[in-house]
Amino acid sequence: MESYNFGEIRTPIFEETELFARSIGGETDVVSKEMYTFADHSLSHLEWTRNTILVRRSAHDDPIDVKILIQLVDSLVSQAEAATSEGEMPKTPDNARALDRLRALSEATLLVPQTAAMGKEEFELCANQIRAAVGALKFGDLITLRPEATASVVRAYIEHGMQMRPGDQKLYYIGPMFRRERPQKGRYRQFYQIGAEVLGTSDAPAIDAELIEMLTVLLEHCQIEKYTLLINSIGCANCRPKYVELLRAELRKPEIYERLGADSKRRVETNPLRVMDSKLPEEQEIIEKLPKISEHLCDDCKTHYEKLKKELDLRKVPFTESPRLVRGLDYYMRTTFEITSPILGAQNALCGGGRYDGLVELLGGPKGIKGIGFALGEDRFIDAIQEAKKVHPTRTADVFIAWMGESAYPVAVRLARVLRGEKHIVELPPVEMKFRKALERADKAGARCVLIIGDDEIASKQLTVKRLADGQQEKIAEDQLVNYFASKSN
Ligand code: HAM
Repeated sequence: MESYNFGEIRTPIFEETELFARSIGGETDVVSKEMYTFADHSLSHLEWTRNTILVRRSAHDDPIDVKILIQLVDSLVSQAEAATSEGEMPKTPDNARALDRLRALSEATLLVPQTAAMGKEEFELCANQIRAAVGALKFGDLITLRPEATASVVRAYIEHGMQMRPGDQKLYYIGPMFRRERPQKGRYRQFYQIGAEVLGTSDAPAIDAELIEMLTVLLEHCQIEKYTLLINSIGCANCRPKYVELLRAELRKPEIYERLGADSKRRVETNPLRVMDSKLPEEQEIIEKLPKISEHLCDDCKTHYEKLKKELDLRKVPFTESPRLVRGLDYYMRTTFEITSPILGAQNALCGGGRYDGLVELLGGPKGIKGIGFALGEDRFIDAIQEAKKVHPTRTADVFIAWMGESAYPVAVRLARVLRGEKHIVELPPVEMKFRKALERADKAGARCVLIIGDDEIASKQLTVKRLADGQQEKIAEDQLVNYFASKSN
């Protein structure tokens, strides 16, 4: 990524929930079901009182029961007042309204045992209103463990005024993301992404193509040859709404609607585009016959898409057009792409990305800033590398130092430092080992050489180097050691 002039950005592991809800979209699976969200506060005593009120079912004709409920409400109100005045609970109009309501309900309910003025139904109504008001209290802001990083990068871009920096901002990141999905091979609740984003005033298709080229170069560097790059354009704010309506009308036709599964039926209303990437076998035939977005793009989007394909050809990046590639996050427009790998099995999406030209503005940033990016699933990437090379990569030492005897130890410590300074990977056993044991350990560590330092070596000032591949041994003068390893590793 650095060779393409991308610089690293590190964003926090959590952000305000609102950021993800607004950018990824409330109707998406990620936001509606998969986010790890918490109220950010230290008011566990208030939380306890609230939960007790919420689960309590009091009998209207038992004065003690009613009294306990009211005591709980009063205690919650006074705890909340104290927390608000100490600045531990947000002082918002919603909270003030909920507290006023609770004070009034407490008084009204208190009359019940004395006057028997309330019947069962009236009391139930009161109790429900108490539960609603208690539920409306917000003890702290909602925060979410990041399910992806594009929203965070855009937030950081806006917050740090990065549009003032010269040229496009080309940023990459590596780090953990969190989604509450059903864990299985290739799908984890904490997983890792390697991603990149380009933000700037231009939406030139060359930017899209260079980003995709960089991705394919990365895969090829890692010897992943079997993959498919799928591309599509999902239009813009001008053309997509018209297409979505057309699609919705088509999907509402009874002969189609009746054959859809429950998820797709719901999406006909909430987000018909998502029907396109349904994996249900019985829906595949229907989806193949639905109108394709590529046939309903406006002229600007069509030109952008055609130029993207030319740019990819120019860079010799093979691609497959996939009219069904709509992606699961709401911020995309125009270019979308995914890389799938046949060696991954069911979770075969190695990487996904696309253009999100309206996102910076949506999140309150400057007008006219466009963006495109991708994220590669690092866990799946490593599976694919291991599968492609058919090896289990383990880290191996260049040199294992087998030292024997008290006088050998200081020499071993000194030489380990010298060799490490020359960037060799050196394993220095912390306690003395018998020669045979040291050789076995060196072999297991996958070391290329064993540097033997014993009494003989100290006396003769000639160290012994044993190559593990062929068992050859050589005597090397201490001052020649660095040269010896430099020439061997070249
Ligand atoms: P995404 O398609 O949601 O896109 O995720 C990208 C990649 O992350 C997937 O292709 C997959 O390899 C990996 N991934 C997703 N969920 C899991 C999981 N539960 N376990 C393991 N791997 C997973 C995004 O996240 C967008 N932010 C990409 C992007 C960047 N678009 C523009 N810029």
